[in-house]
Amino acid sequence: MKSISNTEKVIYSAGVVLAIMVYVITIQQNPIFEIASLRLARSFGLISFGLLFLSLVASPLYKAFPEVPGKLWFTKAAKPFGVSAFFFALLHGHYAFFKVLRGFEGLSYLSTRYLLAVVVSTLTLGLLAILTAISFEFVTKKLGESWKWLRKLVYVVAFLAPLHALLIGSHFTSGDSLIGQVFIFLWLLLLLLQEICLHQYLCKRYSQIHPKITGGILIIFFSVIFYIVLLTDTFISHHNV
Ligand code: HEM
Repeated sequence: MKSISNTEKVIYSAGVVLAIMVYVITIQQNPIFEIASLRLARSFGLISFGLLFLSLVASPLYKAFPEVPGKLWFTKAAKPFGVSAFFFALLHGHYAFFKVLRGFEGLSYLSTRYLLAVVVSTLTLGLLAILTAISFEFVTKKLGESWKWLRKLVYVVAFLAPLHALLIGSHFTSGDSLIGQVFIFLWLLLLLLQEICLHQYLCKRYSQIHPKITGGILIIFFSVIFYIVLLTDTFISHHNV
């Protein structure tokens, strides 16, 4: 069996140290347990979101711009970043669900907006668990060709995770948080990189079609996705659910 690489060791160890530091500092600064739990849920959620971005960006970045430096390291680091994103999402889910939302009992008090966000987040967590499992070599070997199809679930995660944050994240719903704005910018960047990659792929595959046409179709496609997310958010806000 292949041993764990140095890059993986460094990223996993840094993840564990970061989690302990965030926990200790938050508990020290917030003696009231409920406030500490909320802060922990938020911090772990944001760290998981950041790691998810790092794991998703490497592939489209180097496909679109192969000359950008750091390709070897960043491509190798994508997997441990993804696994660490799952680790932090688990910590976040634990504090958010059992402490902030008060577990299964608390579900009956939630608004439709929160219920929708919890359904979306549970799905995201489940998909992240599958992606983490299939990132290990022995699982990949067992799965054979179906591994490639399961890998495409990353696109669903890349869509659901920001939707969940936009629905209930305190840094995302207010609109005036710098952290929220930075994350929205990063996700738009990811969308743009994916668009460039798809455009390059379609131009190669359907060379008879003018590049402007494939580019135009993709811009419309991604704008519709973005619009659906905004529409869901506006609908829920207007109906006060
Ligand atoms: C069952 C699993 C999950 C539950 C119950 C859950 C619940 C919550 C709750 C209640 C909040 C609102 C906290 C607040 O800002 O006041 C939240 C925010 C957030 N969640 Fe989740 N979540 C789950 C999974 C995930 C996953 C898988 C991710 C993605 C990586 C994620 C990323 C975020 C982010 C980025 C925020 C915004 C934090 C902020 O604005 O400070 N969550 N989640």
